[in-house]
Amino acid sequence: MMQSLHRFVWRDAARRARKLLDFAETEADGGRDLVRAAELTKDPVLRRLYTVHAADEEKHAALFRGRGAELMRALPISSPAKSRLNWLTPGERGLDDLRVDEKSDASLLAFLHLSEKTAARHFGTYVDALRDDPSTAAVFREILHDETFHMNYTLAQLNRVAPRQRGLYLWRARLGRLWKAYLRIMAAIAGVIGSVLLTAQYFILIPPFAFLAKRAERREPDGWKQPPAERPFNSQY
Ligand SMILES: [Fe+2]
Ligand SMILES: [Fe+2]
Repeated sequence: MMQSLHRFVWRDAARRARKLLDFAETEADGGRDLVRAAELTKDPVLRRLYTVHAADEEKHAALFRGRGAELMRALPISSPAKSRLNWLTPGERGLDDLRVDEKSDASLLAFLHLSEKTAARHFGTYVDALRDDPSTAAVFREILHDETFHMNYTLAQLNRVAPRQRGLYLWRARLGRLWKAYLRIMAAIAGVIGSVLLTAQYFILIPPFAFLAKRAERREPDGWKQPPAERPFNSQY
């Protein structure tokens, strides 16, 4: 069922193009955060790996941007802007929430490992869903290869940096991700409730005012009305 849902999301070319451009933003943003992580870490091995990782994310951004722009150019001029449904088929979303200044090496590695693992799983699903668009599927396949490397090196480095507390860091990162998912769901629900309340206000509160305005309009005579008394014309105001 999830597979057919993914196929539905990716089927529309306009949505596909815009989603790829969104994904490019996330990847580029993640790349910048990883450059910052490379600056902050005192571990030379991690500094080198974060720099390679940042270059990979920048490459992913360019691949997504290139393919998104290609699809965009092929669209008819009057193509309607459809919802991206990014909550259903997110890109490398973990990189959105990256706060490198607040994390130790071990907690950053745990966070990155889980984000990359989720991204690799999602991108694998998109390759299957994009059977009708081999060029876009090839972009995801190429990126998936790097994401698998990111997923593996972060776990291997976590084992090196914190061999005994690896489980603890992973659990903490998992809870952080769960909390963020909860906040995202609550924000979406608040958005729906807000739209329902504003629509209800529109239909409940505005009609009485419209009725009163129409009634007042009917009482007004048509055309010019003689002022009650003659006023001297000595000012334009
Ligand atoms: Fe990536
Ligand atoms: Fe990645």
